[in-house]
Amino acid sequence: MDKDAEKIIKEAQEKLENATDLESLDQIYIELFGKNSDLNKLTKKISNLSKEQRPKAGQAINKAKKRLEKLFEETKSKLITYHLSLITSVDVSAPGKKTEIGHLHLVSQAIEEIVEIFSKLGFFLQSYPEIDWDWYAFESLNMPKGHPARDEWETFFIKSPFHPKLGSQVLTPHTSNGQVREMQRLKKPPIRMINIARCYRRQIDVSHTPMFHQFEGLLIDKKVSIPDLKGTFDFFTANFFGPNRQTRLRPHHFRFTEPSFEVDITCDICEGIGCRMCKSGWLELGGAGMVHPKVLSAGNIDPNVYTGFAFGWGIERTISMKTKIPDIRLLYQSDIRFLEQF
Ligand code: DAH
Repeated sequence: MDKDAEKIIKEAQEKLENATDLESLDQIYIELFGKNSDLNKLTKKISNLSKEQRPKAGQAINKAKKRLEKLFEETKSKLITYHLSLITSVDVSAPGKKTEIGHLHLVSQAIEEIVEIFSKLGFFLQSYPEIDWDWYAFESLNMPKGHPARDEWETFFIKSPFHPKLGSQVLTPHTSNGQVREMQRLKKPPIRMINIARCYRRQIDVSHTPMFHQFEGLLIDKKVSIPDLKGTFDFFTANFFGPNRQTRLRPHHFRFTEPSFEVDITCDICEGIGCRMCKSGWLELGGAGMVHPKVLSAGNIDPNVYTGFAFGWGIERTISMKTKIPDIRLLYQSDIRFLEQF
């Protein structure tokens, strides 16, 4: 018995010496004094001994138990003192750990900037649905059902009930759906809207993502003409890209504007001279034009009294022209190493 008790004490000593925190001490307590502890097993063996042997064995076990309790308490108080010393040794005057603060995503930053620039010209931000009726996305914009021009918009269609006037629903492939909606909302010009929304098209490559953002400008008033449109773009590009960039209008065709243009901006690398990146010195920013009389009529605005201009540009594309991002898909890969650079 004495030998067994000695062995238990020796093993307990080793365990206690290795304990580094109060949690592991709880576990050791169960191992030393619990139902399955060696000490308990030894106590049970007493009944197998002869009457004469029992008192001595009992004494040995009691002595071992007391010894174990003492060892345990000593270890516990040592650990408590050690942990307390750690807490009290905190230097409260030391500078705190800096919490890492993130920032807005590049697209959100650009949206804020674009809204601010256009608000200086009196444009108001409006948001229109990302799932909209065919009529707003196409038909009211002079693109009747089945017209081949619709193919360029690579549209996602929604399973939806069919509306006799508005047709079926689509994931908006551009922000131009906001044009007639804004005319209907305000009923009467002047209108100065900037509509920023997510758009969706079945396209993915270095300059396309299936979900992207556009900003659509619409200005309708009396005697609005092409120089107003050009002046607006010059103001925007000077504020967004800096004073050294120029814009130009290149004739193009859209069903909802007449005349229509593509707006180009001078390349930021060669500043318009022509380089390996841009070839011609110009980069395409987006579409624009004078609002087609049929579109004004669809919004119940008299084309004989009012004229207007509209434009729609991709935000990701606009950002890539400012920051030289080589592939706009990078914007949506959530790689912090890339995003934190901006
Ligand atoms: N909605 C056109 C597109 O997504 C861009 C556009 C072109 C918008 C001309 C306009 C515009 O408002 O006048 O390609």
